[in-house]
Amino acid sequence: MQLTQPEVNDFRRTLLAWYGENQRPLPWRRDRDPYRIWVSEIMLQQTRVAAVLYRYERFLERFPSLERLASARVNSLLAEWSGLGYYRRARHLHGAARILVRERQGVFPQTASELARLPGIGAYTAAAIASMAFAEPVPAIDGNVERVLRRIIGKRQRRRDLRDAAEQILDRSRPGDFNQALMELGATVCLPSRPRCPACPIRGFCSTRGCGELRQLKPRRRKRNITYAIVQRQHEIILVKRDPGSRLLPGMWELPEVDNEKGKTWFSLRHSITTTDFTVYVVRLAGLPGGGRWIKMSSLDMLPLTGLARKILRVAGIIQSL
Ligand code: ADE
Repeated sequence: MQLTQPEVNDFRRTLLAWYGENQRPLPWRRDRDPYRIWVSEIMLQQTRVAAVLYRYERFLERFPSLERLASARVNSLLAEWSGLGYYRRARHLHGAARILVRERQGVFPQTASELARLPGIGAYTAAAIASMAFAEPVPAIDGNVERVLRRIIGKRQRRRDLRDAAEQILDRSRPGDFNQALMELGATVCLPSRPRCPACPIRGFCSTRGCGELRQLKPRRRKRNITYAIVQRQHEIILVKRDPGSRLLPGMWELPEVDNEKGKTWFSLRHSITTTDFTVYVVRLAGLPGGGRWIKMSSLDMLPLTGLARKILRVAGIIQSL
């Protein structure tokens, strides 16, 4: 993409005007508080906006400041993260909060390059936070923005060319808004398989214009069956703690897994994670031969349950829906 300076100015003006009119009122856009922006960006890694919206305010009520997050126990953080998945993000959030409080008196670094040294903050997240909270003029290229840029530029592009184009068009006086405007365009107009080109404010600058259906290879999905047992006595239920060294959901609590006995199913549900679709069977048992711990049902809210365990316990009516 080679734009003249007046064209670049026109592009910025047009995109920012569109963003001003059409942006979704997302809670982390209300101010420039780096703590709130950081939390939102970590939650938004691998998680859709709709799912984050539901959890974000609650998380901030529970951990309203960096100091409160740093002094919390990691288990209470994991409990609050339950259902969002990719729990390593919550551990990194906690680790980074402790570093910031211990080594920097609770003050966030203001540049992307320093932010990127903290746990859980990669190049994109660092640029997003630095541009939104501190107006550092750095492009933030996530998956959505990359797709938008590829379509604008056309042809096959190397990563380096994408960065150059992003640097060229970035509005240095409003980098946070500009970066979010590109994200917004990617999330609401320049969609992966059916871009809504007639609604696009910058279609006049775009090389692809409607032919931008980028084929995305869908990963092959696996199907698996799994059976969990609900074993209850008056106020307690048996749960199992996952191995703290496990790659997946370390240290979190779940229902005991048992062999499936035909005809015993109490209910079933579907549960999908990354590339696997589970059919989950739930049986009620009077006792359990193997391990597990009796847990008071009144304390389930405080425990870092896996998302699936929470879902099953909700369907079973053992915990309330949020
Ligand atoms: N995804 C990541 N950061 C975002 C933001 N600030 N707004 C919308 N979607 C996002």
